[in-house]
Amino acid sequence: MARSVQSVDFLSGCKVNHLVAVHWGYLFLLRWVDLKHLHHALLDLPLFYQSINYASISKLVAGSYHYSNLKDLLGDGIFTVDGDKWREQRKLSSHEFSTRVLRDFSSVVFRKNVAKLAHILSEAANSNKTVDIQDLFMKSTLDSIFRVAFGVELDSMCGSNEEGKTFSDAFDSASEMTLRRYVDIFWKIKRALNIGSEAKLRDNIRTVDAFVYKLIQRKTEQMSKPEANLSLRWKKEDILSRFLQITGTHPKFLRDIILSFIIAGKDTTATTLSWFIYVLCKYPHVQEKVAQEIKQAAVEKEDDATDIMDFAANVSEDSLEKMQYLHAALTVTLRLYPAVPVDGKFCFSDDTLPDGFSVNKGDMVSYQPYAMGRIKFIWGDDAEEYKPERWLDGDGFFRQESPFKFTAFQAGPRICLGKEFAYRQMKIFAAVLLRYFVFKLSDDKKTVNYRTMINLHIDGGLHVRVYH
Ligand code: HEM
Repeated sequence: MARSVQSVDFLSGCKVNHLVAVHWGYLFLLRWVDLKHLHHALLDLPLFYQSINYASISKLVAGSYHYSNLKDLLGDGIFTVDGDKWREQRKLSSHEFSTRVLRDFSSVVFRKNVAKLAHILSEAANSNKTVDIQDLFMKSTLDSIFRVAFGVELDSMCGSNEEGKTFSDAFDSASEMTLRRYVDIFWKIKRALNIGSEAKLRDNIRTVDAFVYKLIQRKTEQMSKPEANLSLRWKKEDILSRFLQITGTHPKFLRDIILSFIIAGKDTTATTLSWFIYVLCKYPHVQEKVAQEIKQAAVEKEDDATDIMDFAANVSEDSLEKMQYLHAALTVTLRLYPAVPVDGKFCFSDDTLPDGFSVNKGDMVSYQPYAMGRIKFIWGDDAEEYKPERWLDGDGFFRQESPFKFTAFQAGPRICLGKEFAYRQMKIFAAVLLRYFVFKLSDDKKTVNYRTMINLHIDGGLHVRVYH
């Protein structure tokens, strides 16, 4: 079963009739179409999305289809499960993400990692070399989420941790092989025979598991020592240590939940920061305005900073709070280049949406933040323009949109858990980098395209020149 609606093609302005709710049977057909074409073919109506979420979200689940594809890598982590298993992890994680300890610890990690990145950029600026900023963001955000999740320095930025590099290569490859299952109808046979991509996946998961279980065991041993309960607060700042305190020491549970955080937090912020730098290069007046705001927002301690490392170490929550234009500029980036460009869920029972359209048990309902963020009847005739001002009120304060309209973080009960964490990281990175550097594309004429993956990567990276 499929529904046809009128959607607007934002590139050419023409209108096309296409599918909205997609039954299982159509899924394979659509999966082969790339995002540029896919956006014609799937859901574009926020009203529809809204109706799904408000009225029927309780009937939409990750579903057994996603579970069977993802379970080898992500196990029973928050992304793959529904019902009580999901509720338990959601409650536990929401609580942890809102604690002061995790906030403070993660901010320290972000500041340290952006300082490392700034050092690399400074050298590139001095020697007038181009850099692939997307690649640097990928490494830097991986190091950050890894440190926050496990309390361990991966150092993929400088490549000093061999074991860590083996883990991160295996994890990337395992994620890619897992995604392939969505387009490879023979994957179950390959898995049974242990051949091709499935053999590679199994090997990579073995490497990932060996690394993660060793970390969990080490941490469990550390935590069980009596002195761990006394003054060594640092040991309990990372997510693993905190979960160990709360949930006991079931290694499989910890492995699954923490790997889900790594996958959620790794590429999402890196791709957003990359697109952010890209749009700032295309709109230099916005880049200038962001840099001005950062300078003005700096409080005394930051203002006195002697160098970039000093400034990075002192970026405070107070000054981040004042950076409303930066917040808006990041948000428009996410509207136009959402890190999760297409998303879908399954109906676990029959339902009728408020506009009368019925969906059946097993139907996949898909929505597309990428297309929805560019539609003129939602965002106005200037939908495709990069205007942070759109998100500011008369006093210059950031104005929230409904998550059912601005869908980059999804909406409803399964809305992104790391939204605040992601904004804080992106703002710290942007504040430090734009305070000290001006970015220009290495080749202004070159077309920049996205790569169709689960996250919206820039195809071939983003090559920029950096100036002091
Ligand atoms: C720009 C950055 C980010 C964007 C655009 C983003 C977007 C999303 C989206 C669209 C979902 C819904 C996925 C689905 O159910 O199919 C999601 C879920 C989730 N995100 Fe994020 N995310 C970002 C960063 C992060 C970070 C940094 C973390 C954690 C460190 C995180 C943790 C999660 C978790 C745990 C869920 C699952 C929530 C649940 O199922 O209850 N996200 N995110």
